[in-house]
Amino acid sequence: MSSIPTHAGTRRPLIRLESVQKSFALPNGERFDAVQSLSLEIAEGEVFGLVGKSGAGKSTLLRLINLLERPDAGAVFVGGHDLTTLSRRELRDRRQNIGMIFQQFNLLQNATVFDNVAFPLRIHGRHSRAEIDARVRECLDLVGLAEKIDSYPAQLSGGQKQRVAIARALAPRPQVLLCDEPTSALDSETTRALLETLRAINQKIGVTIVIVTHELSVVELLCRQVAILEQGCLVEQFAIDAAPTAERATVLGREIDALVRRREREAPPPPARQHATGGLSYA
Ligand SMILES: Nc1ncnc2c1ncn2[C@@H]1O[C@H](COP(=O)(O)OP(=O)(O)OP(=O)(O)O)[C@@H](O)[C@H]1O
Ligand SMILES: [Mg+2]
Repeated sequence: MSSIPTHAGTRRPLIRLESVQKSFALPNGERFDAVQSLSLEIAEGEVFGLVGKSGAGKSTLLRLINLLERPDAGAVFVGGHDLTTLSRRELRDRRQNIGMIFQQFNLLQNATVFDNVAFPLRIHGRHSRAEIDARVRECLDLVGLAEKIDSYPAQLSGGQKQRVAIARALAPRPQVLLCDEPTSALDSETTRALLETLRAINQKIGVTIVIVTHELSVVELLCRQVAILEQGCLVEQFAIDAAPTAERATVLGREIDALVRRREREAPPPPARQHATGGLSYA
């Protein structure tokens, strides 16, 4: 296990990586270690950020969680199952429990919003038409996009496309939602709205969110826990907290703390003080 303490509290870990390792073959025949003997626990219901410089191994680590990348060594537990030991068929079933969204949305361009969201339910083949219809509408309601059900992706904005991708990822009722730079293609206002949606979904249905991002503001706005990667290693992990209890080990850690403190300073005063100062409204 990692020597870096986790702060997941008393909730049980839903995701547990044990000494996972992943290397890639380089053109010159050597191997490059993208993730190096890394251990990590993520609690059920957590909103967990993975940050680090470009090439630090964030996407590789995220893809190890659903075995889009198979580790060279180590174990990947999600919901108590070590995914590395499963047969192809068992793995396909267990992956229903892990949704994923990407920077470029990856929607089916020739399918309507309805058909995009229905896609994972249809390929699994265990649902009636009525069940699929009800679940698609439920998921589109969750992301606030019910009125676009008959639109095609080309008719949607970037933020709306990402909402469709979220609805599609949630359709099979996964316990985990993996997000790889989900807001990098969006402007800052759309980013904020999308982060609010992710936060609301986490609170409403309890889905555990793991989000890779290079935007520290995303971590500060959305995450309760963050892990920092450098050269394939987990170098620091802590709870996002207005009152940090420890000096951070990394520059990124200190920058996240500074953002949290700044937001605290800039937050509107509590209602009682608003009255005392003449009833200022921050609506
Ligand atoms: N399929 C692959 N074959 C060879 N090398 C790879 C492969 N996938 C990733 N790498 C290398 O592994 C390292 C980590 O890549 P990864 O995509 O995980 O980084 P990242 O932290 O997500 O970066 P970014 O912020 O740019 O997305 C990089 O040096 C990358 O070039
Ligand atoms: Mg990446």
